[in-house]
Amino acid sequence: MGKYNPENYKIDFSEYPKIITKTLPGPESVKLHSRAEKYIRGLSSQVKLFPVAFESGSGCTLEDVDGNKYIDFSSGIYVTTLGHCHPKISEAVAKYAKKLMNAHDFTSEIKVRLLEKMAATLPGDLKGFQLYDSGTTAVEAGLRTCRAATGKNEFISCFQDFHGKSGHAVSLARINKISGPTRAPGFYMVPRPDTYRPWWTRCDGTLDTEKYLEFYDSFIRESTTGQIAAFVLEPIQGWGGSIMPPDDFFPKLKKFLEERKILLFADEVLTSMGRTGKILCMEHWGVLPDVVTLGKGFGNGFPVTAMAVREPYSEAVDKISASTSYGGNPMACAAALACFEVIEEEGLLEHAMELEKVFKKCMKDWTAKYKIVGDTRAKGCLLGVELVKDKKTKEPFDEAGKMVYQKAFRKGLAWIPAGHILRMSPPIVMPEEVAVKGMEIIEEAIAETEKELGI
Ligand SMILES: Cc1ncc(COP(=O)(O)O)c(C=O)c1O
Repeated sequence: MGKYNPENYKIDFSEYPKIITKTLPGPESVKLHSRAEKYIRGLSSQVKLFPVAFESGSGCTLEDVDGNKYIDFSSGIYVTTLGHCHPKISEAVAKYAKKLMNAHDFTSEIKVRLLEKMAATLPGDLKGFQLYDSGTTAVEAGLRTCRAATGKNEFISCFQDFHGKSGHAVSLARINKISGPTRAPGFYMVPRPDTYRPWWTRCDGTLDTEKYLEFYDSFIRESTTGQIAAFVLEPIQGWGGSIMPPDDFFPKLKKFLEERKILLFADEVLTSMGRTGKILCMEHWGVLPDVVTLGKGFGNGFPVTAMAVREPYSEAVDKISASTSYGGNPMACAAALACFEVIEEEGLLEHAMELEKVFKKCMKDWTAKYKIVGDTRAKGCLLGVELVKDKKTKEPFDEAGKMVYQKAFRKGLAWIPAGHILRMSPPIVMPEEVAVKGMEIIEEAIAETEKELGI
């Protein structure tokens, strides 16, 4: 196990961040974006709010086509957890790009090495694997696995969760313009504990996890056929706004599910591979999921994902063919194996936990200091800051969220917008002083937003 060396990722603060164009996005970004806009359809709100064109990235920095330089607080979109273009990962992909690009699901040496590494690194008896090319396809495989392992058909997921954009993945989330007008039969949703916005509390106003479980019990009896294959959850809700459960939730939920012979399916596409300071986020609570999906940081930018299942269910899953055009191709396996090795060799899990302390220290006074900051939270390098119009009513302040996002971007911080919840996911390779710099930029943007709004 190696130790984190900040020298490897040090940046020159006279160069980063540095905005050299009079307008932002700069003229070259504007030109390129207008050419793309003629053809591309359905762009994300992130791009619409800030249509910049990036040219290159290295470690925790980015440069756009106009030469503006940014600190990266987004990791692409929670993807480049180990920073941009890590030499070991880039070389691993390049090697197989020259040697063997695709061999269907035939065995290759690099695939065997990845599978062995996964078996040795993932907790407990998570030792049955399938490899895919996107988070969504891994989630679909997870659902098939749960059905095969239990012989049951239905699923429960949670409000504010996100699991991808295929037919079943959208049925695990809120029905909206992405998913179309209807949910697939047998998919149900329930609220889950959010410590800042609890539905059920004790007399002292603190969140009461037991009441959620009582509700789930009634819900299963009253609303479903009772044939629930799995409860599907993100350990921390990423797109929902870095929403963290109370520490007793997953241990109690696991027991509740075991008593009812329902599987726990943790969708760790966003939270795995060190994002929260562990390989699986569920390890924070000592809970072993029966089925788990890994993505995003799994290939650090190379499209490779995985579904893992515990040994007791592995045999049932053998019946489902896992072959896909791209899943487990040699380049993908080389990228994922290199990610595991980099995390270990550079002591990055420990470093992500150190960064959590830095982020929490930076945000310590924000709720007292700023009228619009309702809540701040961080687990490893997954952060959220909730902006509200009124701290008593907790009314979401979307407009302020948009202003803070754009102001910080103009100061050279590349990050992720999301309504009233500011979401940050810096690469876990980031040195502490760069993390502090990024947080200073966000704090300045919050202060300026309050001033502009006359708050
Ligand atoms: C928790 C979770 N599951 C699944 C997905 C879908 O992954 P992909 O976009 O790679 O299909 C995402 C994407 O953001 C996610 O956050």
